[in-house]
Amino acid sequence: MELEAMTLADTNISKDSGKNVGPVILFGAPGAGKGTQAKNIAAVYGIPQISTGDILRANVAQSTALGREAKEIMARGELVPDSLVCAMVSERLTHADCARGFILDGFPRTVPQAEWLDAELEGKVFDKEHARAMPPIVIQIKVEYNSLLQRLTGRRSCPACGRIYNVHLQPPRVADICDVDGSKLVTRHDDCEDVISGRLKEYESQTLPVAEYYRKRKRLIEVDGDQSVEIVTKEALKAIEHGHSL
Ligand code: AP5
Repeated sequence: MELEAMTLADTNISKDSGKNVGPVILFGAPGAGKGTQAKNIAAVYGIPQISTGDILRANVAQSTALGREAKEIMARGELVPDSLVCAMVSERLTHADCARGFILDGFPRTVPQAEWLDAELEGKVFDKEHARAMPPIVIQIKVEYNSLLQRLTGRRSCPACGRIYNVHLQPPRVADICDVDGSKLVTRHDDCEDVISGRLKEYESQTLPVAEYYRKRKRLIEVDGDQSVEIVTKEALKAIEHGHSL
């Protein structure tokens, strides 16, 4: 059975049921599987994945003012300033496809970003009658350090459809070629060992405190990310369903 059908059958969620999902935050270290899971969850609920990393990389590729500012910072594995990232997310949340909910992948990753998001959700995202009233569900995907290294160094992605692969763990059917559309797979510039260590340090010092921020507010649900993609997806879907009753 296809992953999506399997997860739906296991969780009693009907695809595109039109339900209000509200904000879902996928939280975790670089390589934890946020992007992989965001795509699966987005497909199940029919809500968008908002990846701040993807939006920043698109800006770098198009050499926008934001992209020119972010380029060197990202190349060093450091975090882009909160003001730039929050403005970017604020704009994205005004799009109509966010009305029933959205999945934030890679945001917030500093405490000021989390504080900003709370104020933003309080203020203007949703129709008062619907999903806006729902507090965010925060899923922390926990993965051992050595697995993170293997995941990051082996990651390849499709520049056309965005599908994520791993040469060690989830290889494409034909080496370096996307199963979906036949594009040649690419390696991210920041997936080299020097930059990976900088990204992991930034995570420890700036992003881990965000978990505490949400734990204190009883919004954090932990999922063991050292399991197969399918099992992590099932657990994340259960966490979302359970999160609504917190
Ligand atoms: P971003 O793009 O967000 O990168 P990241 O947080 O470092 O996370 P990754 O995309 O590397 O990992 P992931 O958790 O999505 O894992 P994936 O699913 O791909 O950010 C990049 C940069 O942008 C930052 O360094 C910063 O400069 C800037 N930035 C972004 N957001 C920002 C913000 N909010 N504030 C400031 N700056 C910001 O999976 C990884 C690999 O593992 C893949 O190969 C996959 O196939 C494999 N895999 C996944 N799950 C499993 C599994 N269960 N089992 C086996 N393999 C698996």
